[in-house]
Amino acid sequence: MRLEKYIATSGIASRRAVKKSILAGLVTVNGEPIFVPGHPINVETDTIEFEGERVEPLTERIYLMLNKPAGYLTTRSDERGRPTVMNLVADLPESIYPIGRLDLETEGLLLFTNDGDFAYRLLHPSYEIEKTYLAWVKGVPDDGAVQRLRQGITIPSGKTAPAKVKQLKVNRDDASTQFEVVIHEGKKRQVRLMFKAVGHSVVRLKRVGIGNLRLGNLPQGQYRLLTLREVTTLMEL
Ligand code: URA
Repeated sequence: MRLEKYIATSGIASRRAVKKSILAGLVTVNGEPIFVPGHPINVETDTIEFEGERVEPLTERIYLMLNKPAGYLTTRSDERGRPTVMNLVADLPESIYPIGRLDLETEGLLLFTNDGDFAYRLLHPSYEIEKTYLAWVKGVPDDGAVQRLRQGITIPSGKTAPAKVKQLKVNRDDASTQFEVVIHEGKKRQVRLMFKAVGHSVVRLKRVGIGNLRLGNLPQGQYRLLTLREVTTLMEL
């Protein structure tokens, strides 16, 4: 990975601040100042110091969030060579994998780790961790439809558990409505199928939260490491 990216990813400073410090000679790799932001480093063996402070190595346990764009498959590899979410984290150790999945066309918060216990906790239905989505649907579902979504509705894989469903805004220009939907199950294509069951197709879907964790303003296609506090909070849910 490139030096500048590694330090910025660790969250110690913004990309721009990191670059400035590197150019000023305030960043060392194995004790030597390096003036080149693109200097290649080995994330598992090199010791990096940023303004005298050790940047934690990316060894052992890795936890990160990606803002997944539409059009990327959530899989570790694709036989047909289509773009996968692994392409977006290709400069990290190969031991990491996505926790759960988002559909090809679904965007937003996707976690990665190499910590099996952490992944298990987040995926196991008994922990009932809430996942928050923004859904843009065709038309304007009436109160009855929204009520049915809240109570639980039958989709091909069974009846969904009660969900929190809030109408956010109606866009009269393209006759679509934006909702916030909170579910704690992970049935296949659940949010899309829930709206389909009340006669409204989802035109865009974005996951913005898992438990208390929020995607925030992480740019599309980019990832960042979770803070220690974020990891512990998710583990305690
Ligand atoms: N619900 C869906 O329909 N798709 C996803 O990717 C996640 C939840």
